[in-house]
Amino acid sequence: MAIQWFPGHMHLTKKAISERIKEIDVVIELLDARLPGSSANPMLAELTGAKPALKVLNKQDLADPTRTPLWLAHYNSLPGTSAIALDASETTPARRLIDACHALAPTRGSMVKPMRVLICGIPNVGKSTLINTLTGKRATKTGDEAGITKLEQRIVLADGFYLWDTPGMLWPRIIVAKSGYNLAASGAIGRNAFNEEEVALELLDYLIQAYPALLEARYKLKLAPDITDEQLLEEIGRRRGAVLSKGRVNLQKAAEIVIYEFRAATLGRVTLETPEEFAQWLAAGQLLDAERQVKKDRIETDRLVRFKKIPRPPRTSGDGA
Ligand code: G4P
Repeated sequence: MAIQWFPGHMHLTKKAISERIKEIDVVIELLDARLPGSSANPMLAELTGAKPALKVLNKQDLADPTRTPLWLAHYNSLPGTSAIALDASETTPARRLIDACHALAPTRGSMVKPMRVLICGIPNVGKSTLINTLTGKRATKTGDEAGITKLEQRIVLADGFYLWDTPGMLWPRIIVAKSGYNLAASGAIGRNAFNEEEVALELLDYLIQAYPALLEARYKLKLAPDITDEQLLEEIGRRRGAVLSKGRVNLQKAAEIVIYEFRAATLGRVTLETPEEFAQWLAAGQLLDAERQVKKDRIETDRLVRFKKIPRPPRTSGDGA
């Protein structure tokens, strides 16, 4: 799926993080509890190295309560990493964040050696909402259009506990095709950057196999064992009165309904990936990425050989010769 990114903002964020990281003790990454793997930014690990990491599975109120513990266990099993689940209904989340950071960096947190924490997250994951709650401000900055730059700010959470908010935006690098669809479904990607029908079909395809009972209850239908995502989208459109002339279904409207109802959780609490599923998608995505890189390298080598910049490399058995 083609997605329009904003590399300028990304560079700003990358620069800010790499400048700040030297004096940071714990990195908090806000993840969307409905798609923890896809809402993570793989570049963050490269920028932050081996710093202790706290993964906050945010918007847990929208996620499948049976799957959030699987993701927490997954992150808690990684070295130097721990995880908590959170949502905006928690009015005093500071204590849990502070405790989790202290557990990760026990020598920090005094006036002499303050705890310095960096908080990051992809757009729409709920960072402004959380920061507003922590600072006791009214939520004025929420619902921003993806890509708006914010200034770096330092928040004092307690004596000797400083939280740095990253400016700009951290975009996910989508090497997993499914992640692109899940991010679009969740609202992390501006609506002009993707095709709603495509995203709704991918979403339905997953929901048919993982949450059939929720679909049946919400749309008051019985799923045939071999129903396809296209057939289901049409059926939903028809049932919701999204019909054009001559009885044709308005698939765009039907797609908007499905995406909206997933986002608002009127469909039910859904998590679009388990740790195992995501690991499989990632492995497949990385393989494709590596293959793409090999092809690119070959083209570059051919170009250099053609322009006599380098000698022709010896043939290997993998060249298909
Ligand atoms: P950001 O700074 O990371 O970009 O996200 P922000 O806080 O602006 O939150 C994005 C949307 O998610 C907001 O909805 C906000 O109310 C909602 N949100 C944040 N935290 C939670 C949570 O824990 N649970 C739920 N259910 N929602 C949460 P919005 O203003 O309606 O914007 P939009 O979703 O219509 O774009």
